[in-house]
Amino acid sequence: MIFGITSLVLIVALSLRLTFGRYLGRLPEDNRKITAENFKAYIKWIAGWKLSFLKLERWDRCLDHLVAWGKKNYPGWTAWVFYILSLCYVYLAFSGLIFAWLVPRGLYGYPLLLHVAAGALFAISLTIILFLKAREFLPDKLGLRAATQDKRGFWCPLLGKHLPRSYLAAVAFWVFAVSGFLLAASTLGSMLPYFNYPAQILFFNLHRWSALASVLAAILTLDVMIVD
Ligand code: HEM
Repeated sequence: MIFGITSLVLIVALSLRLTFGRYLGRLPEDNRKITAENFKAYIKWIAGWKLSFLKLERWDRCLDHLVAWGKKNYPGWTAWVFYILSLCYVYLAFSGLIFAWLVPRGLYGYPLLLHVAAGALFAISLTIILFLKAREFLPDKLGLRAATQDKRGFWCPLLGKHLPRSYLAAVAFWVFAVSGFLLAASTLGSMLPYFNYPAQILFFNLHRWSALASVLAAILTLDVMIVD
């Protein structure tokens, strides 16, 4: 119950914050304020954007963008590691959260079997991506990138200024990596015959809350790294 409500509220709140920030970022600088007028206009804008997903071509364009982003950031065969991670992740997040929100007995049967199989592929591809990309998100590389690359940055209405997108990208990357590790470790731990029932419950709850951290990091990654 607590996990269900907290995860839903946090996912909706972060998505609202990021899309509202995007909407304000499109407005002239002196009009980027949190006002009722701006919020009403934002609701209209976001409703139009959401309705556009009723059309197949919208999904097509999103997929094309993701494939092109993967090719640009993961050269050669490594792009396939990114595609496999993304595909597995979408299934893992949806299967895990939908069962956690809607099915009292939790994940079971074929969806669970597929969840575990996708989980193994997710763990392997995440490990490869850590080897390929971790260096880019180390502190010494970040300062350089913030100085050179960030044109628009990340609009923070509360501070009333731009924050370097590369800092937020690094936060998203490391939270995703650590929560991914905890997701795999919690499942492996619960499979070992050494732990009693309270420990199993602890692993299960660690898995769920790591899943929430992972999904929030994935949403932030989409906003600061993948979507233009
Ligand atoms: C590392 C790979 C993963 C493996 C091997 C794995 C395996 C499992 C297993 C075995 C369960 C059932 C636990 C039980 O009922 O005792 C489970 C539940 C769950 N998994 Fe994963 N998982 C993985 C990754 C993920 C990821 C990446 C997410 C989401 C981002 C996720 C979200 C969830 C959620 C929310 C539940 C709880 C569902 C419920 O309430 O019943 N898992 N996972």
